[in-house]
Amino acid sequence: MKLGFIGTGVIASAVVRGLAGQGHEIRISARSRARSAALVSEMPEVQIADLQDILDHSEVVFLGLMLDTAPEILAALSFPAGLQVVSFMAGADLEQLATLVAPARAAAVMMPFPGIATGASAIMALGDTALLNQIFAPRNTVFGLRDAAELDAYLCAQAVLSPVARLTADAAEWLGTRVSDPAQGEAFLRMLISTSLGQTGAADLVEALNTPGGYNQRLRQHMEAAGMGADLTAGLGKLER
Ligand SMILES: NC(=O)c1ccc[n+]([C@@H]2O[C@H](COP(=O)([O-])OP(=O)(O)OC[C@H]3O[C@@H](n4cnc5c(N)ncnc54)[C@H](OP(=O)(O)O)[C@@H]3O)[C@@H](O)[C@H]2O)c1
Repeated sequence: MKLGFIGTGVIASAVVRGLAGQGHEIRISARSRARSAALVSEMPEVQIADLQDILDHSEVVFLGLMLDTAPEILAALSFPAGLQVVSFMAGADLEQLATLVAPARAAAVMMPFPGIATGASAIMALGDTALLNQIFAPRNTVFGLRDAAELDAYLCAQAVLSPVARLTADAAEWLGTRVSDPAQGEAFLRMLISTSLGQTGAADLVEALNTPGGYNQRLRQHMEAAGMGADLTAGLGKLER
């Protein structure tokens, strides 16, 4: 497909990298010069173009701008009616996107994670998930959401990733002071956690790790008694507000 990217920042760069070698023709904006130049040098299918050229020569354009600057940048452009636009911008729902890109089609809002650069990534999406699947599956998995409220809830809940990473880093540091190869220790923990959750539902995993008096049960119960579950729920509630 002919794909365009306006805003070649952290997340757009990751998405472009994840599309490498699939026969697409990709135009990206020049700003964030180091990032855009790196993509051009890494991927023969990528070229830098000016913003209007990106709109005029693409079937699907992705918006990787910050929402506070996007209205002014986009208002200076002329969107073709047949163009499909997908936004990465947190805080903009499909209706808002439609006002920014008319008369082009506000096809979807998608929230990728930087891991999309290497694939096997979860993508939260509102709108035309068939279009997103056409572009990003089967390398990645698109999770279609019903409406903006559902996207807000997912955005809150996905933040559990950072505390999980923090817990893993802390456990790895603890382990690292007790073993001969700290890097191996961290690699072991990361693999253990990611593959275990990849293969089993979370509640089922807790149950499977619930051997009475076992290490897993004892540590979980210690942390629950210290307020882990209540703290998580309170933190999610704060994000929601
Ligand atoms: N980072 C994530 O993990 C993530 C995940 C999901 C969604 N998002 C959303 O994606 C959007 C971008 O986030 P980000 O983290 O990628 O931020 P970012 O790295 O700051 O990207 C924003 C990009 O917009 C560019 N830009 C600013 N003004 C421009 C203009 N007039 N013309 C062309 N490009 C212009 C910036 O270029 P300069 O660097 O030259 O200013 C930069 O490349 C945000 O709305 C965010 O909510 C981010």
